[in-house]
Amino acid sequence: MSEKKYHVGYTCGVFDLFHVGHLNLLERCKEMCDILIVGVCDDDYVHDIKNKEPMIPDTDRVRILNALKCVDKAELVDIATTDDKMLAYERFHFDVLFSGDDWKGSERYLRTEKQFETVGAKIEYLPYTKGVSTTELKNKMKK
Ligand code: CTP
Repeated sequence: MSEKKYHVGYTCGVFDLFHVGHLNLLERCKEMCDILIVGVCDDDYVHDIKNKEPMIPDTDRVRILNALKCVDKAELVDIATTDDKMLAYERFHFDVLFSGDDWKGSERYLRTEKQFETVGAKIEYLPYTKGVSTTELKNKMKK
């Protein structure tokens, strides 16, 4: 029997210019579940929703995540699946969604928590690593 709190866990993000903040998050997720699935936001999401230019194309970001020890499966997710976590639930059937703690208490996540109650899934909020982000890396490279 596994000693982990959850069996299947899910998290999603862009993971552009993979850095230690991403690694910290994924390792924390994997400490709490047997199987970690990562949804990788596609390039349309980065363009249309984040209004940013991806540095690493989405299929390469998926390959990088799939090569990590702490990730069991990484797959591309589209804008709808990124925005509506019930769509992600229907696709991946996870027991827990891991999200950054900056989302805790937001209208969107309160709604997701309610929807998840109906299917028995949970949300765990994990801390954001300070001092590193894709945006900061891009800014440093510009200087
Ligand atoms: N993340 C984290 N700590 C960081 C950066 C990211 O915990 N320093 C987490 C985010 O909360 C998210 C996942 O990693 O759950 C993917 O984040 P992403 O948006 O791809 O990374 P950022 O580096 O924050 O990108 P950007 O600067 O473009 O917003």
